[in-house]
Amino acid sequence: MTVNTEKELQGLLRIGRIVGMTMKTMSEALRPGITTAELDEIGAKYLKQHGARSAPILTYKFPGTTCISINEEAAHGIPGKRVVQAGDLVNIDVSAELDDFWADTGASFPVPPVTPANQRLLDYARSALEVAISTARSGQPLNAIGKAVEKHVRKGGYKVIQDLPGHGVGRKLHEPPTVPNFYVPTIRTKLTEGMVITLEPFLSVGANRVVQQKDGWTLKTQDGSMAAQFEHTVIITKGRPILVTAVQ
Ligand code: CO
Ligand code: CO
Repeated sequence: MTVNTEKELQGLLRIGRIVGMTMKTMSEALRPGITTAELDEIGAKYLKQHGARSAPILTYKFPGTTCISINEEAAHGIPGKRVVQAGDLVNIDVSAELDDFWADTGASFPVPPVTPANQRLLDYARSALEVAISTARSGQPLNAIGKAVEKHVRKGGYKVIQDLPGHGVGRKLHEPPTVPNFYVPTIRTKLTEGMVITLEPFLSVGANRVVQQKDGWTLKTQDGSMAAQFEHTVIITKGRPILVTAVQ
């Protein structure tokens, strides 16, 4: 969507804060021994308390309120009996709707002890999101984001997972435009003021592709290498975008 009115801005910020706080609350409960279903339940409770509804359930009938993906699972992991272990990298992705506004956020969290290799991957994934944020401004071509992110990720020796782009959001979970995290020269779209998109580069240590698992949802890196992602819903402005899903 494109934000045109104060009412739209406030509606989007409201759900943005809720999904941000849901993810934060879940991350604070992350510890060895907790199951992904228990973590998901914490998120479900928070969303419900705030009147919000899970976007993956509403949109795709996903079998969980949030997506929880561990280690080589890049995205769309189903919450269940899996027990979080010391040393895991856990990605929590929360998207939800309130009053017809939709927002989407995600982040990867280390469960100590974190290896130097995992810490470096996390640092690069976080800085890749920052590169996307600082590139995304009105008047710029949309593919400038992918160009800048890809360059940064390559410098670190990592791969952009090409199957997992950012996207428009706001009135639905997934709207046009698609926001690739690598350079696609044929994209002619320009970023305009008020445009609402997600920035969510997925990095992997090896493969640039993911493979869907037999459960019909979970996406693992093709070569089983570690993956990490940080995601915000943002509103494009003339300067630094508004981070709709950022919370303190
Ligand atoms: Co997203
Ligand atoms: Co997401």
